[in-house]
Amino acid sequence: MHRHLQRVTVDFEYPVYFTRDAFAPANTCVREAVSGREPQRRHRLFAVLDRNVAAASPWLGESIAAYAEQHRDVLELVADPLLLDGGEAAKNDTAVAARLHTRWNELAMDRQAVVAIVGGGALLDLAGYAAAVLHRGLRVVRVPTSVLAQADSGVGVKCGVNLFGKKNFLGVFAPPFAVVNDSRFLETLAARDVVAGMAEAVKVALIRDAEFFRWLEASADGLAGGERGSLEILIRRCAELHLRHIATSGDPFELGSARPLDFGHWAAHKLESMTRHRLRHGEAVAVGLAMDATYAELAGVCDATTAAAVRTLLARLGLPLWDEALDTRNGSRRVVLDGLAEFREHLGGELTITLLRAIGDGVEVHQMDEALLDTAIGRLRPDTR
Ligand SMILES: NC(=O)c1ccc[n+]([C@@H]2O[C@H](COP(=O)([O-])OP(=O)(O)OC[C@H]3O[C@@H](n4cnc5c(N)ncnc54)[C@H](O)[C@@H]3O)[C@@H](O)[C@H]2O)c1
Ligand SMILES: [Zn+2]
Repeated sequence: MHRHLQRVTVDFEYPVYFTRDAFAPANTCVREAVSGREPQRRHRLFAVLDRNVAAASPWLGESIAAYAEQHRDVLELVADPLLLDGGEAAKNDTAVAARLHTRWNELAMDRQAVVAIVGGGALLDLAGYAAAVLHRGLRVVRVPTSVLAQADSGVGVKCGVNLFGKKNFLGVFAPPFAVVNDSRFLETLAARDVVAGMAEAVKVALIRDAEFFRWLEASADGLAGGERGSLEILIRRCAELHLRHIATSGDPFELGSARPLDFGHWAAHKLESMTRHRLRHGEAVAVGLAMDATYAELAGVCDATTAAAVRTLLARLGLPLWDEALDTRNGSRRVVLDGLAEFREHLGGELTITLLRAIGDGVEVHQMDEALLDTAIGRLRPDTR
């Protein structure tokens, strides 16, 4: 036998900017994001916009055109922006990716061309996925416009769309070319979505950063009221913690069974599909966090004070701890529990769930006691709390 062990090491590097008014002519973030690595040539650029973002900021299309004109030494806008529906419904419609491919074929977009995607986490996931498979990957500059996308999904390495009622059934690991977080966009985001995005900050604080959790507690009233300064601190810290995890966990593409950043997510993903996305991702994550914290308490993994602190912070931020879908049963069994098997199936390997040992300290378990989970869920009912 002859065995050749092939080893390939690839470094990924992408800048993440935090700025305001990214498309103001004097702002150089987008210019740098697109052309920084090859400043001597012009770069073909095409923008995909979340329709809701474009509707809330009607100046956006013109601003992008004016921006490209101002920086025409390095940018060439190849066509008017394409507007696509944002929100989870877009991720459920596989025809949208095909539409993008048709347009990019017409424009002869190649692997050195740049797609700027401006929108919420759902559009970034969808258009990012479409871009990642075209010619095996266009350059993507993400411009996340929601709290969740700026703090979490938009700075990470994953994208995908839903199929067969399953979240992110199709998807790839595809680091972006660059990320431009523009705080101006947050001003038009609905209050509900501002709050929903904060769930991911609570999540990452709980497993990674007790000090951040204490800051969230101290800032909860301001955050719940949408106070801008606090919101920007939350986004920055949350994004940094995610970026640090991706850079240092040793498993950025999730080849192993552990997925600590998906704390609270096994139930969240199931609740999103069970409610046909009536619940926002962040809201479903909040319910999932409350559930797994309560379970950890009942299982003796964390103490009652810790679990209560989680529920209290979520509630103070205006996030839900309960949804009526939790009561949906197949016979006597709560349907949400199917989320455990689906979560394992998505990742492969052994079931691995992150639970809370203490604030800032997650621990992995490979089994969940369904009877205990049922009790934990029952405790979240508003009438029994
Ligand atoms: N890829 C990842 O690693 C990852 C991580 C976490 C979450 N996600 C995904 O992210 C998605 C959730 O993202 P989200 O919370 O941004 O929700 P979203 O993209 O559905 O946006 C919520 C709503 O707000 C609108 N919107 C977005 N920005 C706006 C703005 N500035 N002004 C006005 N309206 C605006 C959208 O059109 C949508 O209707 C889910 O699909 C989730 O699965 C992905
Ligand atoms: Zn999430």
